[in-house]
Amino acid sequence: MTSWDSVPEKFRASSAALPEPWEDIFGGLRSSRTNGCIAVGQIGQSLDGRIATPTGHSHYINGSAGLDHLHRLRALVDAVVVGIGTAIADDPQLTVRRVTGPNPARVVLDPGGRLPAGAKLLADDGVRRLVVTAEETRPSFPSGVEIIALPRTGGQISPAEILTALAERGLRRVLIEGGADTVSRFLAAGCLDRLHVVVAPIILGSGRTGINLPPIERADQALRARMRIHRLDDEVLFDCDLSAQRAAAGRANTST
Ligand SMILES: NC(=O)c1ccc[n+]([C@@H]2O[C@H](COP(=O)([O-])OP(=O)(O)OC[C@H]3O[C@@H](n4cnc5c(N)ncnc54)[C@H](OP(=O)(O)O)[C@@H]3O)[C@@H](O)[C@H]2O)c1
Repeated sequence: MTSWDSVPEKFRASSAALPEPWEDIFGGLRSSRTNGCIAVGQIGQSLDGRIATPTGHSHYINGSAGLDHLHRLRALVDAVVVGIGTAIADDPQLTVRRVTGPNPARVVLDPGGRLPAGAKLLADDGVRRLVVTAEETRPSFPSGVEIIALPRTGGQISPAEILTALAERGLRRVLIEGGADTVSRFLAAGCLDRLHVVVAPIILGSGRTGINLPPIERADQALRARMRIHRLDDEVLFDCDLSAQRAAAGRANTST
């Protein structure tokens, strides 16, 4: 297997094909229908479709190959986005530690301003830190943390508006890392270009399920995506191409 080390730089520097196997796995993150903006969701789940135990414990459903894959995704994007549920449950660092590559900006979706000021992802380590809140929220975060206040309609901030706001701040390639609620909202809104599902060979038997979308009546109404499958040691990556379902980018089409 060709070394990963030069891939993050090559990925950004030109559109030339990456050395294999990396082009095969990550080349799809380059093509964008939305003016150069790309959003990729990721879910690490058990064979029975769970992303955490009933207590919310998820460290680690995936093994080392799956975790390396997640860190490679982080190394290729401008920003990594998590929901406040994950920020509180896991207190993640969201850095690239397992592979070579730059750390992405860290973004938390926290409409109610619940994120503790001591959260690890707010650490002042030279990387941009952003919190997306609802307009009416008046959060107080450490200096240097960028706050993006957006309207909340029907209980949620529009995922399309979130992507547009990030693009306007120069964050055009975005990883929606979790949790399931956050990834599901972006998927339901047609705001993912790709979804990487890494299935680990374990059965949790109970706990939180992965993607949740509005109910359908019949199986033939299921979202069916073009799919590529990659083996990551004893785990399997399903790389779903959602470009056919991708919603128009709204303001993102007109920015920059
Ligand atoms: N296996 C994996 O790949 C993986 C990855 C990450 C996390 N996890 C696990 O997932 C669990 C947490 O996931 P979760 O699904 O419960 O929560 P989550 O997705 O991390 O956070 C959900 C919350 O984020 C806010 N939010 C997200 N999108 C929003 C939007 N468009 N508009 C407004 N608010 C939005 C809402 O906050 P408010 O409630 O304040 O409105 C929402 O309730 C933890 O157990 C964690 O360990 C697993």
